[in-house]
Amino acid sequence: MALSIIILAAGKGKRMKSKLPKTLHKIGGKPILEHVYNTAKKLSDKIFIVYGHGGDQVKEELEHLSATWVMQEQLLGTGHAVMKALPYIPDEDSVLVLVGDCPLISEETLHRLLKVAEMHDVSLVVADLLDPTGFGRILQDQTGRVIAIIEERDATTKQKQITTVNTGLITASAKNLKTWLPALKAENAQEEYYLTDIIALANADGLSVKAVRTEMADEILGVNDRIQLAKLERLYQLKIAEQLLMQGVTIMDPARFDCRGDISIEKDVTLDINTILEGEVKIGENSYIGANCYIKDAVIGKDVYIKPNTIIDSAVIDDHCRIGPFARIRPGTQLKSSVHIGNFVEIKKSSIDTDSKVNHLTYVGDTLIGKAVNVGAGTITCNYDGVNKHQTIIEDNVFIGSGVELVAPIKIEKDATIGAGSTITKKVPAGQLTLERSDQVNIPDWKRPKKKAKDIK
Ligand code: UD1
Ligand code: CA
Repeated sequence: MALSIIILAAGKGKRMKSKLPKTLHKIGGKPILEHVYNTAKKLSDKIFIVYGHGGDQVKEELEHLSATWVMQEQLLGTGHAVMKALPYIPDEDSVLVLVGDCPLISEETLHRLLKVAEMHDVSLVVADLLDPTGFGRILQDQTGRVIAIIEERDATTKQKQITTVNTGLITASAKNLKTWLPALKAENAQEEYYLTDIIALANADGLSVKAVRTEMADEILGVNDRIQLAKLERLYQLKIAEQLLMQGVTIMDPARFDCRGDISIEKDVTLDINTILEGEVKIGENSYIGANCYIKDAVIGKDVYIKPNTIIDSAVIDDHCRIGPFARIRPGTQLKSSVHIGNFVEIKKSSIDTDSKVNHLTYVGDTLIGKAVNVGAGTITCNYDGVNKHQTIIEDNVFIGSGVELVAPIKIEKDATIGAGSTITKKVPAGQLTLERSDQVNIPDWKRPKKKAKDIK
């Protein structure tokens, strides 16, 4: 029997007070809805997302998801939303309904639910909460059988005291849903067609209803406002941090760790505090990332040592490199093994080969640097003429003194040495010392100007 998953995401999310639809707000750098989708995708390829009028932005933003998008023009309730998707689903399928604003729902819980669903006509996930406010309450008989769900707004004072709640995750066969949903009545406080009413209908038909309890209260939390968004962000980060800790990564403080994308980190990597990893990041064994680093879309090798306050964006860093503190590695950069990049150094769209060093206050842009090159402090590749960018080539074993300007396009041949303070505009030949410097003048009898007495107040 195939499984169809319906994700309900047509709600407006007014309490977010945002122009952005709620499900596009991000947790861990990814839209809330995408989290739900990713979990759903692990269970089935047949995914239906119910989106609302004005939700075109959601559809456009998440076009890459392989789902069937179903428009629900009017928000007439969760039962109505599911009904909109049913025409696309064959009777033989079983249907799992997920709420689009609960990003932390776990695959384990859904598996447990689906297991139970094999034996029962309707299955649902319930949780016991200290504070059940806002949730639908589970009504049970003396034997613990679920007889109905009552929404908070329709509940009596006594029913409101029930702490077992509906998480919103329900499964039933498409065939049964096709019978029950058209029979729903909107006779309730919100005048909506409640999906939850199918529990009572199933019972009336003498069918079996079974609840699965989750102990992980976090996973059923929804995002309705930005306080909940912030709270879920931290819960999500903690979850990722714990996964990494279990895989052998040291995180100095899981409360000060942020992953906003897809990361893969090998064992014995240490992440110091306030590290932000964004996009696709890979970090090899035994590497160290210092405090306050921002690393985006990067591949970092083994035994790499990144000192605090370093920014790396769209770059490949090979094994044994040392970078920072306060270095900025910009897109299109490749550092081969054992390269050293020091403080206040900016590297853009350049490739630096093995054992080369650029240690202090330097800009390297659009440059190819060979092996074992030493670039002195304050060196600048002048790559931009105001209109075009030009390339600098520095061959193996070149030594560049401090404060040198290399006006591109330019080539420095291997084993060349360039004296400090030179502005280089022509090709530098291999193996020679090149200097571009005006002669020094010394004026022995020169006196410094002094302030006159009347100027002193
Ligand atoms: C719903 C459940 C409640 C449960 C809670 C768990 C119903 C009637 N109530 O309540 O028992 O405790 O979820 O979070 O099902 N949506 C649509 N179209 C609609 C209405 C809603 O797509 O017409 C979507 C929303 O975008 C949302 C989800 O369905 O993702 C749940 O809707 P919401 O209005 O938030 O229901 P709750 O009142 O939270
Ligand atoms: Ca100069």
